[in-house]
Amino acid sequence: MTGPGPVVPAPAASHPRPEPLGAGTLSRRLILSTTALVAVIAVLLSGLTALTMHRILQDQLDEQLLASATQTRGEGRGQGMSPGRGGPGLAQGLLFYWQGQGGIVQVEHDRNVVGEQVAAELERVVPTGRPETRALPSLGPYRIVGIAQGSQVMVVGLPLAGLTASMASIMVAAVVLTLMAIIIAFLAARTVVERNLRPLARLATTAHQVSALPLGSGAVDVPVRFPAEDTDPRSEVGQVGIAFNRMLDHVEGALGAREGSETKLRRFVADASHELRNPLAAIRGYAELTRRERPDVPATTAHALERIESESERMSHLVEDLLLLARLDSGPALEIAPTPLSTLVADAVSDARAAGPDHAWALSLPDAEVVALADRHRLTQVVANLLANARTHTPAGTRVTTSLAAEQGWAVVRVSDDGPGIPPEVADRVFERFTRADASRSRAGGGVPSTGLGLAIVAAVVAAHGGHVDVRSRPGHTEFTVRVPLAPVRQI
Ligand SMILES: Nc1ncnc2c1ncn2[C@@H]1O[C@H](COP(=O)(O)OP(=O)(O)OP(=O)(O)O)[C@@H](O)[C@H]1O
Ligand SMILES: [Mg+2]
Repeated sequence: MTGPGPVVPAPAASHPRPEPLGAGTLSRRLILSTTALVAVIAVLLSGLTALTMHRILQDQLDEQLLASATQTRGEGRGQGMSPGRGGPGLAQGLLFYWQGQGGIVQVEHDRNVVGEQVAAELERVVPTGRPETRALPSLGPYRIVGIAQGSQVMVVGLPLAGLTASMASIMVAAVVLTLMAIIIAFLAARTVVERNLRPLARLATTAHQVSALPLGSGAVDVPVRFPAEDTDPRSEVGQVGIAFNRMLDHVEGALGAREGSETKLRRFVADASHELRNPLAAIRGYAELTRRERPDVPATTAHALERIESESERMSHLVEDLLLLARLDSGPALEIAPTPLSTLVADAVSDARAAGPDHAWALSLPDAEVVALADRHRLTQVVANLLANARTHTPAGTRVTTSLAAEQGWAVVRVSDDGPGIPPEVADRVFERFTRADASRSRAGGGVPSTGLGLAIVAAVVAAHGGHVDVRSRPGHTEFTVRVPLAPVRQI
């Protein structure tokens, strides 16, 4: 498939979306930092308001205090008159102290005589004319001002209880309002952040969908795009969305181009392999014919003819392998049918035994027939390649065990040997094309040189069946496991 397919907007997310307040999320950071900022501002404002209110109330009290002092002075105290006596409007809780030349003359609280402790406290007041706060025994905190009149001192006080009560109410209101501001800020921030980050979540969804596409293994269409309504170039997310969609266009174009050139290459390999088959068969045929018809040729010529025959045969195998791989690459090229595997595996082992009489060949078949959905010829080739490897890459006397089983929906063929194991330098890429160990390490070095395509064919054929192959190898034990789907029971 090449060229862009129909572009569809990203469907609903299949990946887990982060919770708005989940650990590490951007929305959490935005919501919490906005709320924290509002909280700090609200606390500062409440604190400053409370301080200002305190200052205003205290100033009012001081004014009242000084007014009371002026009023009582005007009433001629020290002459045996107590404040308020005969003068209206004096404040509640007023404390009055008058000291003449001969000591305390008058100490009254709300026109009542006060205790000695209070009198002693008031006696200590320095007559500065500036109000100050003092805690008076049994009367509590008072705002007090001392005024000197020649050698006489007058002290007037007003209780702070009213101011303290007002401040308590103000503080309660400030705390409640601050908490409300924080809660409202939190809810508003959450709503705004969630709404604004929604396009970002959709972008993440689109990116997840793209990452789930099998782009590395054939898919060249990228049929998802960031929704058009989210690609407003004025917003930051919109910019990202536009760039993202453009990148997907490029990726799609690049994949299409790659697919195009791979298709061409595959077709070339397939065509070249196909075209080489006939000339190779002709070379082999003529060489064989010449050798048979002219038995009297010199030994060197006979050897040359043999070499031509064997090399052209090897090249025919190589060409067949390349052709098969090219066909498998360009799509399923199998004739899948329910295939009983017991005979197939038994025949392959029997062929291997004939080809490698120096090895010990063991076969383990289940009682019940195992029927796979498979291409008979290709699967035979898979087992034959594995058995050929066990024969050519292990020394004489190696025991090779082949087993067949049905396991959890799979037909499983295992080929294991107790040979030296796969050389470490090729161990992790044995299924790649043209991977083979140093020829000197395999017996094949002495006979037919190997090409390194055998396991690549195994992997490609098994994958085309929808199955898989894996290998475990260590010195003394190498085991290849091939799994292909079992045929459904009704198809047997
Ligand atoms: N049973 C085995 N024991 C040890 N090494 C193995 C075994 N099977 C495979 N190998 C190693 O894996 C390499 C790749 O095997 P593969 O069948 O792909 O290629 P090949 O056998 O070298 O060539 P070809 O099969 O194309 O003739 C081999 O060259 C060999 O080194
Ligand atoms: Mg091989």
